[in-house]
Amino acid sequence: MTKRVGILTGGGDAPGLNAVIRAVVLAGAQRGWQIVGIREGFDGLINNLPPIELNIDDVQHLLARGGTMLGAVNHGNPFMRPVEGTDGNTEYEDTSYQAVTAIQRLNLDALIVAGGDGTMSIAHHLVLQGAPIVGVPKTIDNDLGGTEITFGFDTAIRTATEALEKLRTTAESHHRAMVLEVMGRNAGWIALVTGIAGGADAILIPEIPFDIDVVCDRIRALRDDGRRYSLIVVAEGAAPVDGSQEFYIQGDTSAKSKLGGIAYTVGEALTECVDTEVRVTVLGHLQRGGMPTPRDRWLATMFGAEAVHLVAAEAWGRMVAVRGEHITHVSMEDAIKMKFVDPDGDMVQVARDLGIVFG
Ligand code: F6P
Repeated sequence: MTKRVGILTGGGDAPGLNAVIRAVVLAGAQRGWQIVGIREGFDGLINNLPPIELNIDDVQHLLARGGTMLGAVNHGNPFMRPVEGTDGNTEYEDTSYQAVTAIQRLNLDALIVAGGDGTMSIAHHLVLQGAPIVGVPKTIDNDLGGTEITFGFDTAIRTATEALEKLRTTAESHHRAMVLEVMGRNAGWIALVTGIAGGADAILIPEIPFDIDVVCDRIRALRDDGRRYSLIVVAEGAAPVDGSQEFYIQGDTSAKSKLGGIAYTVGEALTECVDTEVRVTVLGHLQRGGMPTPRDRWLATMFGAEAVHLVAAEAWGRMVAVRGEHITHVSMEDAIKMKFVDPDGDMVQVARDLGIVFG
């Protein structure tokens, strides 16, 4: 039976989203389905943005393109839409019924949403209101529960690892301690994998509150052994044992504050304790940009094709997931539970075995 299926990309972008869109269109076309793109995430539904009809020719070139052709917003929660209150203050209203009715008005038999925990949480609650939605997990942070891996992560760690390699050469030349801050929100996956893959001497992650003296000791020990440079990877969500995470607000002060800036605090502390020049690099959105790696393209394509299977099975409220070598699916509710680095797990232990300190 033919279907009309919508697809939207929610939250921040991640390399591989376009590959998901392409896979959904290609796999949908095999079944004779019509696929339409909803622009600007859930905002597009609520604001009645005209959808884009997507045909094979529209998506063939998308496999290797970063970002999302549909646009994404990471503040568009239909359950909490900011409106101006009577006294001029911002108030929040529940507009979720508009999202559900928009799905009906657009004659969609189903909606595929690609996003992270925020998007899956919204989708889960819309499903409870009767909306026919399935999910595709996306985030560079790799912190979504229910799936072993999300697309976007591989591209982010490649970018971050290359950055660390580049910092190594100048660290060597100038005998410096280089601090690299990477993204990841409250999870240390990007920092941990980058630190191991890029040969860091210290990795600071949110799951292990750090003592800066431990990092200082490590840098001094390396210097005593004749190595006059060091590399420190700091997750944006890392915090000292006796302190808290750091945030910044850019531009519009009503905007939500964002994690970031801890690397500068770490850099200053290192300057105090070691007799080495210290430099800080905050990698920022470079980690989310550009061409997805082949692995992310492959994963995103598998996810898109599996999402089409889920729609065919009318498996509303399920999210595509990876378990071992298998593409499977889990409930969105399970996906919303965040996945953190285990401080006692194998990856941290391997790093410690190599002499990497966690502060
Ligand atoms: O969740 C992905 C992510 O890139 C985080 O690692 C980071 O904290 C956040 O998004 C940045 O969000 P924004 O693009 O709104 O600055």
